[in-house]
Amino acid sequence: MLSGVRVCTPATALFRSFCQGCRSRASGCQRPGRAMSWSPRQISQWNSDESSDPPPSETPRVLITGGLGQLGVGLARMLRQQYGTENVILSDIKKPPTEVFKSGPFVYADVLDFKNLRELVVNNRITWLVHYSALLSAVGEANVSLARTINITGLHNVLDLALENCLRLFVPSTIGAFGPSSPRDPAPDLCVQRPRTIYGVSKVHGELMGEYLHHKYGLDFRCLRYPGIISVNTKPGGGTTDYAVQIFHDALSTGHHECYLRPDTRLPMMHIADCHRATIEFMQAPEYQLSLRTYNISAMSFTPEELVEEIRKHLPHLKVTYNPDPVRQNIADSWPVRFDDSNARRDWGWQPAYGLPELVTDMLNTIREKRTNAGLSTS
Ligand SMILES: NC(=O)c1ccc[n+]([C@@H]2O[C@H](COP(=O)([O-])OP(=O)(O)OC[C@H]3O[C@@H](n4cnc5c(N)ncnc54)[C@H](O)[C@@H]3O)[C@@H](O)[C@H]2O)c1
Repeated sequence: MLSGVRVCTPATALFRSFCQGCRSRASGCQRPGRAMSWSPRQISQWNSDESSDPPPSETPRVLITGGLGQLGVGLARMLRQQYGTENVILSDIKKPPTEVFKSGPFVYADVLDFKNLRELVVNNRITWLVHYSALLSAVGEANVSLARTINITGLHNVLDLALENCLRLFVPSTIGAFGPSSPRDPAPDLCVQRPRTIYGVSKVHGELMGEYLHHKYGLDFRCLRYPGIISVNTKPGGGTTDYAVQIFHDALSTGHHECYLRPDTRLPMMHIADCHRATIEFMQAPEYQLSLRTYNISAMSFTPEELVEEIRKHLPHLKVTYNPDPVRQNIADSWPVRFDDSNARRDWGWQPAYGLPELVTDMLNTIREKRTNAGLSTS
């Protein structure tokens, strides 16, 4: 597909300057009318003067792939609050629940079908693409061939499409992009990455391909390494950090949780509201603020034992047994126990709002409310 790319090639210094400005406005730099509206002097002045205001930005038109998983629906809700319901299109290969279907535009999109994706982007004048489709760590290990296809072939389709249409492209990465030879406490943005899962390998591939296309063709690629994300509303998609969601449901239903990790397994985690806010703030950040294209973001880091202790402050009778699953325990043991996110904090002002006590209070209150509304008892 790369042979069809028409844009963002830094053929001349002037074109590159234009392209930088164009990308910061997240618009289609193929359009000659736009190119002509900025004189070379204006462009070079703007590129060199970081304190001056960038050109006025348009409202983005956003497409989210794999949007019916744990993260997509909530991100769409937050983006729609800012940019309008019609400007944010959710997509997936599954049938959406009625309330999601009614809440805003939804389309079928298989990331393996390049032509269909291209039609969606062109017909809907998409300017931002959030690429959420993936098979996560534990599910990926159970189906390596499918994980390779969705996580790598699907990503290539999205990269080609983003280049072709000058999109601002967001692709999440993960703590799983690190491996046993990476520094673990903390893991910095730049270090050895030799993951041992197909999920991790595909995410490192995504980070490197996106950065390569950014440097070579000016693709506006943006990637955050998310920690394990904790949320109430949607079920986690088969990751290694899923216990930290399930435990809240078990605590309020049966009062007993069987944990598939050892009690001392420390992993970086984040409340979903922080994850969505980080994603939007990062997408909104002007290009000149970004010294990297792939950033760690962190909020807290805890073990199952510490999480249980915090939940017991609210539910003293919670019973937890530990029955480590070798696959997920091995994966967790190869991941960082903490993220160094100092570059994200410095470059674009990342700051989490939730620590462990706030996370536990919010999760218990929200699940309790849902159970009450559904007429279910709470232990
Ligand atoms: N949830 C986390 O804790 C976490 C942590 C780090 C990174 N991430 C990343 O964030 C992204 C979203 O995560 P999530 O938890 O919502 O994942 P999820 O597994 O819950 O959802 C993924 C979605 O992708 C869809 N999908 C699968 N094959 C597809 C295809 N061929 N075409 C289109 N869609 C397809 C699935 O139907 C599913 O709805 C993923 O890329 C994941 O790697 C998530």
